[in-house]
Amino acid sequence: MKRLSVLGSTGSIGRATLDIVRRYPERFSVKGLAAGSNDELMTQQIEEFRPDVVALMDEDSAQRLKIRFRELEVLSGKEGLVRVATLEEVDFVLSAISGASGLVPTYEAVRAGKTIGLANKETLVMAGDLINREARAPIIPVDSEHSALFQCLQGHRAEDVRKLILTASGGPFRGMKKEQLKNVTGEDALRHPTWQMGRKITIDSATLMNKGLEVIEAHHLFGFKPEQIDVVIHHQSIVHSMVEFIDGSLIAQLSLPDMRGPIAYALSYPERLPEVLDRCSLSELGTLSFEEPDMETFSCLRLCYRALRMGGTAPTVVNAADEKAVEGFLEGFIGFNEIPVIIDEILSLHQPKEVQSIEDVLEADRWAREKFDELMEERV
Ligand SMILES: NC(=O)c1ccc[n+]([C@@H]2O[C@H](COP(=O)([O-])OP(=O)(O)OC[C@H]3O[C@@H](n4cnc5c(N)ncnc54)[C@H](OP(=O)(O)O)[C@@H]3O)[C@@H](O)[C@H]2O)c1
Repeated sequence: MKRLSVLGSTGSIGRATLDIVRRYPERFSVKGLAAGSNDELMTQQIEEFRPDVVALMDEDSAQRLKIRFRELEVLSGKEGLVRVATLEEVDFVLSAISGASGLVPTYEAVRAGKTIGLANKETLVMAGDLINREARAPIIPVDSEHSALFQCLQGHRAEDVRKLILTASGGPFRGMKKEQLKNVTGEDALRHPTWQMGRKITIDSATLMNKGLEVIEAHHLFGFKPEQIDVVIHHQSIVHSMVEFIDGSLIAQLSLPDMRGPIAYALSYPERLPEVLDRCSLSELGTLSFEEPDMETFSCLRLCYRALRMGGTAPTVVNAADEKAVEGFLEGFIGFNEIPVIIDEILSLHQPKEVQSIEDVLEADRWAREKFDELMEERV
């Protein structure tokens, strides 16, 4: 029986994780749950999964849970999230809080020696070197592309790998040019063609920022150089990623697009759980297509390669500037095409520093957010 804490249990990945637990109750039990403020869904999850400890970031929402579940340990704030992430009785932490807020609890889980199922890519984008230095137990990717790479790399030597090839659906605006994207709205961008995901990652998929963050994540997970990590657009989202070997062979991982696949694999690795996904019939799917990404129109991808090469705190700055820009876009005061322009401006103002500690990362995150606010103030 694997004992889990699920960070971000009320989100898209968190709910899919609990669905796997629901289907395989003899294999998994839930000891800790954590989320932001959704105490209604958390109430249902507590009643169904009976965790020992629960935390919500938001104090008022946590207070409502405390009144409802007087016997349960209910916590709030960052300390609460960290407590759920580091519970002694837990072996496996599924990290699926969205954005930079996932960093500290995941970092503390790593330091506590937990095996991590990592959906929160921001943890590695912001603090990859630090996390790799501290990790004593495996970090198993949950992102579908990285899960695919992880699966394709099994049994192969790093020196036999020429390239990692991440696939990208291309999002709702695939094939469009800057001029056509001038007036797209948050609602347009939230209509992802193949995946059902949280709002932030859905916008990041539309700008290709998500793919850029994934390039950085892949670098830290697998240890390959930026020039060994490529991106190809594959809009059917059936091939989740591939590895190219020095002999010219490609090994790819395919399945229908359903996050329960990579989540179940991370939870059960090195075993596989039976019948997690519907079967993938290639003859019914027909054609699978692949094309080069358009880095002129979707320049967030290029910005991530640049930040990865700059190193140190540069990826943290890109990530924080993007979180602010996406919020601004969804609130309607930033245009879609402005997202990469603003991030570029902030990255260009940044003097990257080597990351020695988590404080260095948090400081760079703060700096980028403040810079964003300053730039916005200058505009009005
Ligand atoms: N969705 C996917 O298919 C997918 C695929 C690959 C990777 N990922 C990654 O997985 C992570 C989660 O994505 P998602 O799509 O599941 O996001 P989501 O649906 O927006 O869910 C986010 C979760 O994080 C919680 N949360 C947000 N802010 C928080 C804070 N400050 N403190 C504590 N909890 C907080 C939310 O709680 P409330 O509900 O209470 O606000 C919710 O449980 C992201 O890093 C994303 O890049 C997602």
